[in-house]
Amino acid sequence: MSKIEIVPSLLSVDFSNLAPENRDVEKAVFNGDAEKNTKFLYARVSFEESRMKTRPLIILGSDHAGFRIKKFIKNLLSKENCLIKDVGTDSPDPVDYPEYAERVAVEVKKGKNRKGILTCGTGIGASIAANKIPGIRAALVCNTKDARLSIEHNNANILVLGGRPFNKEMTKRVIGVWFKSEFQGGRHRRRLNEISRLEKKYLKA
Ligand code: RB5
Repeated sequence: MSKIEIVPSLLSVDFSNLAPENRDVEKAVFNGDAEKNTKFLYARVSFEESRMKTRPLIILGSDHAGFRIKKFIKNLLSKENCLIKDVGTDSPDPVDYPEYAERVAVEVKKGKNRKGILTCGTGIGASIAANKIPGIRAALVCNTKDARLSIEHNNANILVLGGRPFNKEMTKRVIGVWFKSEFQGGRHRRRLNEISRLEKKYLKA
């Protein structure tokens, strides 16, 4: 057994800080009699269980030109049993992308375990708009490498895709990579801190 954590009951285990490499380790669990503190029940917590408890809320938003791809993404994520909040738009009728970028950004900022996926025609307008909201790191991604680096280096909290250039297969691959990737921290954390510094400095201006 590589790691033991003692917790009051399996139901109250908080997996939110569990590192990926520990997701499938044995956990020692009090067998309900904390006072005696003698008997332990050992339970293997499967990766799937921990994944279900830590799955993020995905906020989806698009303008009319990103509507088709958003619909595809919503369908894709629903099949993966993801928690989804769709903030619109709800049809291909013309709307203005800044409004939907703002909706996604505001929802993403409401909690730690939230990520956004935002689409417009090119992804350019939506990413520019979303990045005006402090704390938002919206990454316009064109391929799987961008998707991986946008998390590993930039810890992007919103993935932005262009509805016009992206086909279904590419969308699926990019989203798969985006969810699988992990922030590397270290020098990248320092750089993100620098971005926060810029936000604070120029918000005052
Ligand atoms: C809408 O025509 C289009 O301008 C918008 O979806 C987006 O591409 C803007 O950057």
